Amino acid sequence: MSVFVVAGAALAFYGMNAQRPELGALLDHACLTSPDPEKVAGFLEVAYAMTRKAIAGEWQCVGPDRTLLVRSGAANRIAYFAYAFDSAPELEAHRRRLEGSAASPRGNPSPLFDDHAYSFSDPDGNVVAFGVRNRSSADGDEPLPARLQHLALRTPDLDTMVPFYESLGFVVSDRVLDDAGVLRACFLRTDHEHHALALFGAPEARFDHLSCETRDTAAVIAWADRMAASGIPIHWGVGRHGPGNDVFFMVKDPDGNLIEISADIEVCDASRPAGTWRHEQRTLNLWGTAIMRS
Ligand SMILES: [Fe+2]
Repeated sequence: MSVFVVAGAALAFYGMNAQRPELGALLDHACLTSPDPEKVAGFLEVAYAMTRKAIAGEWQCVGPDRTLLVRSGAANRIAYFAYAFDSAPELEAHRRRLEGSAASPRGNPSPLFDDHAYSFSDPDGNVVAFGVRNRSSADGDEPLPARLQHLALRTPDLDTMVPFYESLGFVVSDRVLDDAGVLRACFLRTDHEHHALALFGAPEARFDHLSCETRDTAAVIAWADRMAASGIPIHWGVGRHGPGNDVFFMVKDPDGNLIEISADIEVCDASRPAGTWRHEQRTLNLWGTAIMRS
């Protein structure tokens, strides 16, 4: 646990925007590992309408407001995932606030950040990086936008993982509790959008899914049509999540990772209290059945 008090004092955490409790960085990119990185990169190129290039021994898949990297390694793992601030002073403010905390910063793992970036290893060994990268949003021009928005992990140790990410400035939007009061999932935000990180209790620590946010529900349908035209079957959805209230569907990549398109995710007031949901299928899909991780 860090020196930061993560509930009542959260509004004092971030000086760059004193009106918001969250750290203010957005999910910018992630590096997946795979036994067959070319196959996964090829899938992402089609599914998320990106262009892939082999650079320095790994694949970089790039589209407007979405960048994913794939390198050789175990399936269902990420080498790192990265949140970007808009400016160097914001990054520096974040780093200063973490000085003296239990979490020790490490070096920059990402070729997309400069040397001022830093990272942390979470209790499960996932590497989360922070840096600066300007994304020129093409939302207004793109006929079918998809902005990389959140990432989800499975963990056997939610009770340690959640406070760890709170200590980095993530703010809990919603918790999912079972009937015994045990935490089974948690949704954390880094700005006004309901979650930029989701943590699901599960027997095994692993990568769960990536999500790109599109313009609206009509664009979700257009993305589903695009998947169908590419021969990619929908694995889950279309549905509406309880926490976040977003309309979504998911497909599976060649390694079995979930790849999500979502729209209309909840916008949170700075003072929004953390909510509680019951651990049941309806919570993860208000319209029907869900993929339960535990
Ligand atoms: Fe999601």
